Amino acid sequence: MTEGEWPVSSATTRTATSRAATIGVLGETAADERRVALDPSAVAALVKSGHAVRIEAGAGKAANFFDAAYAAAGARIASRKQVIDDSDALVVVRAPAESLTSKLRAEQTIIGLLDPFNSLEQLRDLAERRVTAVAFELLPRTVSRAQSMDALSSQASAAGYRAAIVAAEAYGRYLPMMITASGTATPAKVIVMGTGVAGLQAIATTRRLGAVVTGYDVRAASRQEVESLGATFLTSTIAQGEGSGGYARALTPEERAAQQEELATALKSFDVIITTAKVPGRTPPELVSQQTIESLRPGSVCVDLGSSDRGGNVAGSVPGSRILTPGGVTIIGAGELASDLPASSSQMYGRNVVAVIASLMPDGVLAFDPDDEIHHNIVACTGGRIVNEAVRTALDPKPAAATHEKVHAS
Ligand code: NAI
Repeated sequence: MTEGEWPVSSATTRTATSRAATIGVLGETAADERRVALDPSAVAALVKSGHAVRIEAGAGKAANFFDAAYAAAGARIASRKQVIDDSDALVVVRAPAESLTSKLRAEQTIIGLLDPFNSLEQLRDLAERRVTAVAFELLPRTVSRAQSMDALSSQASAAGYRAAIVAAEAYGRYLPMMITASGTATPAKVIVMGTGVAGLQAIATTRRLGAVVTGYDVRAASRQEVESLGATFLTSTIAQGEGSGGYARALTPEERAAQQEELATALKSFDVIITTAKVPGRTPPELVSQQTIESLRPGSVCVDLGSSDRGGNVAGSVPGSRILTPGGVTIIGAGELASDLPASSSQMYGRNVVAVIASLMPDGVLAFDPDDEIHHNIVACTGGRIVNEAVRTALDPKPAAATHEKVHAS
């Protein structure tokens, strides 16, 4: 299958009698965001399945997807207001601002990376107004059927690749060993901390660029994955940090102190540090302390994919900023790096959106099935209720009666 070409299965091919949904794509409003929720190939796939697509004029421009390409794929170009008014389901990349959510109406669906645990009140409001909210962060990622919908993985993979490129660009020396008539350059020593989806991609890419690469994680299972990419694993006394669902758990204060002490010594010898460590629903753990930064060689580079308004993995990193410390260390706050690869990230994201729509709206209307493991997780609220258990608990820690009702919106 070539790029942009789609498999046609009986599950996604619509019969002449089935109903179609109108899917709306809005331009992203965050200042640093260049992605778009559907690329033209995803639009073509939805149209082929019988759906109508409306797209806000200019929505894909920052990713180099122009209105003409969307029109050729079968979308109708419209104003933002028309897209909101006409659509059964709106698709976005980043969590929408209140200025958008306040315009959504009952039985309308919004799909995106909605940042549910930092948008709890917004979700409560949407539920009360009978809007359906579908958040990729809530997908049960280990279910094999869910893999085509896994936007966290597609975007983390793009971010990990991009982190290696950003680090190479900021580092003032060769990454590979370079033997020339003018002398020999030693290869850069890179450590990737947090070896989930983004970290493994950063390892693979820095290895391809010729660096000598080490991986570090608190999940014991990650050693084998790091070594299978030809990198060395930094052995730590904190090796039982596995939580549920394949994610890391938050470390205890004692474990954190021991980790900081170990890392302060180990990190001194690296030229490039890429951090990707996250714990679901928590502030990212600080892995590179101020003291460690002061001990790094001038010219060293830290790329912090954990960087966010709530803190990051590297002390002092600021989201979206590049800081040069007095000691000559560059700290890059890079929490949204997938946006730096907007065409590829949007193409992958669009495929994730199409797979979610095929599952949730197989006949053009929302068909929420509470018995479907994917539906009752990825749907935060529908039919006037919060249906995702973790979101419900976060909103109201008191036990609530389980809902068990199929919702068919028209
Ligand atoms: P993530 O974005 O939540 O975290 C990134 C990495 O940081 C993880 O590897 C985590 O263990 C590590 N980390 C967290 N706290 C740390 C600390 N204090 N020190 C060092 N490292 C720390 O993780 P991501 O990339 O979303 O993946 C999480 C897991 O889910 C992985 O095991 C991945 O293989 C698995 N996964 C499985 C899928 C499947 O079965 N289809 C799909 C996607 C992910």
